[in-house]
This record gives sequence, C-alpha cells and structure tokens, in this order.
Amino acid sequence: MTSIATLPVQESARRPVSRRYLMCRPEHFEVTYAINPWMDTAEPVDRALALAQWDALRAAYEAHGHRVEVIDPVAGLPDMVFAANGGLAIGDRALSARFANPERADEGPAYHRWLSAQRFADVAAARETNEGEGDFAITPTRILAGTGFRSARGAHQEVADFFEMPVVSLDLVDPRFYHLDTALMVLGDTIAYYPAAFSGPSARLLAQLYPDAIIATDEDANVLGLNGVCDGYHVFMTDRATELTARLRERGYDPVGIDLSELLKSGGSVKCCTMEFHRRGQD
Ligand code: ARG
Repeated sequence: MTSIATLPVQESARRPVSRRYLMCRPEHFEVTYAINPWMDTAEPVDRALALAQWDALRAAYEAHGHRVEVIDPVAGLPDMVFAANGGLAIGDRALSARFANPERADEGPAYHRWLSAQRFADVAAARETNEGEGDFAITPTRILAGTGFRSARGAHQEVADFFEMPVVSLDLVDPRFYHLDTALMVLGDTIAYYPAAFSGPSARLLAQLYPDAIIATDEDANVLGLNGVCDGYHVFMTDRATELTARLRERGYDPVGIDLSELLKSGGSVKCCTMEFHRRGQD
C-alpha cells in the first residue's frame, strides 16, 4: 500500500463530482443477432439476472450521489440497454446517434425523441454514422473519437463542428474492441487504455497525449475492464479486471466493482449502459 503522504498532491486530492446519467432498463434484453464477436446467439441469456445486475449498477450510481434518468425500453430493440450508444450530450447541446447496423437503427430516433424532450438548447440527429459515447470519449479539453468498426470518420468532424471542441481521431483495429469505450476509459485529466486495440499510429498518438496513462493488460481488456465510468474519484467498472483495479487504487481512484456478466454476453459493460450529460470543461 502506498501511504497517502507519498502520493502527488493531485492523486491524494481526487474527489467525486455529482453526475447525471441516462440508462435504459434491459426489459427486452436478449442476444438474437451477432454484430460483434462477444455475441453468440446460441448462448442463453438470463434476463432476470440481467435486470438484477442493471438495477445494482443504477443503485450504485445513486448511492454515490449521481442522478440517473431512464428512457423507456422498446420491444424488439434488445441492445437499447446500451444507452452510451444513444448519443452525445455536452453542455446545452445533444447529438443523437445514427447506428451502423440495421438491427439497432430504430434506437437512434428513440433516443432522439427522449433527448428532444429535455432542456437542451439544441438537439440534432447525427448525419454520419455515429454510435454516441460508444465511440466518443469526452475529456475536459478534447473529444477522443474511434472509428474502424462503427462510427464513421466523417462523424468525427461533425462532432467537432457541433460541439465546437477539438476531436482526436483514433483507429480501432481489433473486432473485439469495436467501440472506443471498450478500449479506453476517461479518468478526468488522464485515461486508461489498451494499446493493442489501436493502429500503430493511434497508439503512438495516445502515448504522446497521455504519457501518464494507465495501460491495461490483455486480461483486463478481455473482461471489458476499460468499459468503466469515472466521477473524478470512484470508477464504476466490472469486478473482474483485477490488475486495472489495483492500478486505479495506486493512482488514488476508488474502483466500485459491478457484476454485469449477462450484459457482457452482448459485448457490453458498465460504460455501455451509461450515457452521461457532460458539463462543458469537465470529462
Ligand atoms: N451488442 C451491442 C452492439 O454490438 C453492444 C454495445 C455496447 N456498447 C458500447 N458502448 N460499447 O452494438
């Protein structure tokens, strides 16, 4: 154990900031199609367990002071539980998603309607293929954006223009890490990531931008350990990523382990279930 006295000031002074999240209860969750390598339609899903695990995640957010809003799930849209994909919301603007796969296409308008009913100054529907926070990681100073499997490269420019923020494009190359949020987690002013999920140039760019980043092991990445949500101090994440959990503790974060084994069967974990309403200038 590192004693608090030996930690740099910044790391001993981490504090949680109350957040607002959007979630969608997995009432219609199942795996009836396979659009990523985690999904196996032959493997049964225990929906009651999925619901209980999701309820526990929601309860953990609320117990740590966060506000959770919910969007009504739609029958026939089993992946709607992955609210991160529904869009992006920063400050008083929101951009609803345009999905890559026809199986999820109807989620875009459902999230758009929900976002339009909130108090945003402007809500637009993405013109380019854009899977929301699945491929766009909001940091205080820039947006990190993934492409290669889902969101189009053209969506990166659209997001930069719409939110008037710099966007850094990153190429994803491993189909198991098909969304940026499966390979990279924002931790306030730094990140944790899995370099092998990125092209050589993109991994080098991340190393340059974040020399103090936490590097995830194969084992951590393979249980979607990076698919977590940080509130500045707590990191809500799978309870299976033991190395990453230890690294986060060393760096002054407080990991909160969540079991989402049923949702993992669809290739999702904590972050996938969570769209955040970001304040400007905050992660
Ligand atoms: N089955 C979903 C899909 O393949 C999982 C989405 C996970 N969401 C995420 N933000 N990574 O689209």
